[in-house]
Amino acid sequence: MTRKRILLISAAALLLIQLIRIDKSNPPVDPKLDFKAVAKPPAEVLSLIREACYNCHSDETQYPWYSNVAPVSWLLKYHVNEAKEHFNFSTLGVLNSEDLKWALGTAAKEIREGEMPLNSYTWMHPEARLTSAQRALLAHWLDSFTPLSTGYGAINPGQIISI
Ligand code: HEC
Repeated sequence: MTRKRILLISAAALLLIQLIRIDKSNPPVDPKLDFKAVAKPPAEVLSLIREACYNCHSDETQYPWYSNVAPVSWLLKYHVNEAKEHFNFSTLGVLNSEDLKWALGTAAKEIREGEMPLNSYTWMHPEARLTSAQRALLAHWLDSFTPLSTGYGAINPGQIISI
């Protein structure tokens, strides 16, 4: 094959794969089950977590412009699916208090160890980068969270007491 031919075929393939679009819809969000209602974090903790984690670990994913370009879009969708399978800030309220405590503990660990947010993400999303002081603040708060202090699970495990 000539070089020109290889180039043409590659270009055609790149065009063709654009036909395979990802699903960018989000499931409906129930605010009662969200991190904010369930864990009642201070405003700073909430805004840092929303900025650094929610695009992958919640049902409020906002897809960037490059999510329109295959094959990057496929990788992105794969990351979001994987992330939500492990941890979803939008549905923490389905957990019983023990599991909730454990889940927030794993989030603390990922943040403290610098595993999350993923480097491939902060590279494109500078607003999601955490300073070491912010990491320490988040990890400390998440680790010291106790479900009963927010009334969570006091009546029915896994149920939020409305106030
Ligand atoms: C770019 C998407 C993305 C962002 C942003 C992101 N994560 Fe993740 N997260 C993932 C993926 C993908 C996985 C599953 C694969 C893995 O562990 O690497 C994961 C896994 C996890 C897990 C489960 C780890 C385990 O061992 O089970 C926790 C907890 C977690 N993330 C917390 C967070 C927190 C907290 C933030 C924000 C500070 C965050 N993530 C930001 C994509 C993301």
